Amino acid sequence: MILEKIENRTAHAGVIGLGYVGLPLMVAVANAGFRTTGIDICSQKIERLKQGISDVPDVPNTALEPLMTSGRIQVTTDFSVLEDLDTVNICVPTPLREDRTPDMQYIVAASEQVAQRLHSEQLIVLESTTYPGTTEEVVLSILNTYLKKNAPIRSLEVGRDFYLAYSPERIEPGNSTYYVTNTPKIIGGVTPNCTDVAKTFYGQFINKTHTVSSSRTAEMVKLLENTFRSVNIGLINEVALICDRMDLDVWEIIDAAATKPFGFMPFYPGPGTGGHCIPVDPHYLSWKAQKYQYHARFIELASEINNEMPRYVVEKISHALNLQRKALNGSKLLILGVAYKKDVGDTRESPALEVIRLILDKKAEFVYHDPYVSNLSLDSKTTYHSKPLTADLVQSADCVVILTDHGAVDYNWLVEHAQSVVDTRNATRRVQMGQEKIIKI
Ligand SMILES: NC(=O)c1ccc[n+]([C@@H]2O[C@H](COP(=O)([O-])OP(=O)(O)OC[C@H]3O[C@@H](n4cnc5c(N)ncnc54)[C@H](O)[C@@H]3O)[C@@H](O)[C@H]2O)c1
Repeated sequence: MILEKIENRTAHAGVIGLGYVGLPLMVAVANAGFRTTGIDICSQKIERLKQGISDVPDVPNTALEPLMTSGRIQVTTDFSVLEDLDTVNICVPTPLREDRTPDMQYIVAASEQVAQRLHSEQLIVLESTTYPGTTEEVVLSILNTYLKKNAPIRSLEVGRDFYLAYSPERIEPGNSTYYVTNTPKIIGGVTPNCTDVAKTFYGQFINKTHTVSSSRTAEMVKLLENTFRSVNIGLINEVALICDRMDLDVWEIIDAAATKPFGFMPFYPGPGTGGHCIPVDPHYLSWKAQKYQYHARFIELASEINNEMPRYVVEKISHALNLQRKALNGSKLLILGVAYKKDVGDTRESPALEVIRLILDKKAEFVYHDPYVSNLSLDSKTTYHSKPLTADLVQSADCVVILTDHGAVDYNWLVEHAQSVVDTRNATRRVQMGQEKIIKI
């Protein structure tokens, strides 16, 4: 029955958690012709969405508005709508606790909401990034606990009466080449039937699906992808530190190595890793590996090196000031870019936050410009505001520190007006004049 509803697109689809992952997914599902309902606990977000206002740059208001006004998408904070949903995608956060262990509270809360309204012929898919075993050990276990409490009225069995799968979201915010519908989707069900139903669902709006043998396998695929990035970024950051000591240009070396048509993939150094994925997800794997008495050394080492990069950036700033016979104490710094990566407005885990904390510890003054981040809070007390990037602002800084290589900035113009520049992203590689003012990592 559910297969038929999915194939003729009369299924009522739902998405829980409307952030960077859930919102683009909801729009893709609705654009495929499904009546779609988004659920989020944040009432302000729901109010903004109702007015057609998106918080996620990958979903422009122009894409959202017509779907909202036509009623194809509805959004709510009321979980009772789950009773009416045929498909449910869970896209809630999976951060780390302070002790760097997985924080499962959001998945647990969403699963409990689903469990209270679970009905036959319903498909549940977890998309949040998490450790292998979560879909069965956390989500299914919560669903079964609720079912047991209500037995025999609700005696539903996974794979027979309802379907449960894991399908990791692979979206990269700000990437205009690969988005929800043209990025292949990995799917692993708790049972083969679950995989089939989930594959049929995603097949309606994703160009290519790839099924794997279990939900645990699919969970591990996502962690492999992100651990691969974290470890390679750690390696190239270490190579950058070595090149610095040897007075070699790491950027030139990477470009040259990348001419090899096989066996090399370029990764680039930077001020550290940021965002909701790379600094976080590998720790989900190392945490789970410990349960199997395995200590994941690469993950810990990469994280250690990546976390040290902000200190190295401050060393470079200090060096740039030293060349002008200035100290960090009392210098004015212009931080260019506080988002964790190019052309996005996400500051979660951004290395810029740590660089700013370190320079404030050294009693430097700072202002920042970020075209995507108008306000920045380092703690609950102070909020900083992005300054317009004027010639005066650039000239008045003792050093401009490029932490994010946003595409909208004219780097020729910037270097022309700057007294000195620390470039952590090689954003100034094409700058013709004033290379002598630039210090790169
Ligand atoms: N951001 C990325 O680039 C990216 C890429 C791939 C995968 N992921 C993974 O996807 C998941 C979601 O990440 P995100 O970046 O979209 O997070 P986000 O913080 O942008 O969005 C999460 C949303 O879930 C809502 N929420 C929290 N608890 C809820 C609950 N119990 N019920 C309903 N809504 C709830 C929040 O209000 C928020 O709107 C995470 O596991 C993340 O690791 C993120």
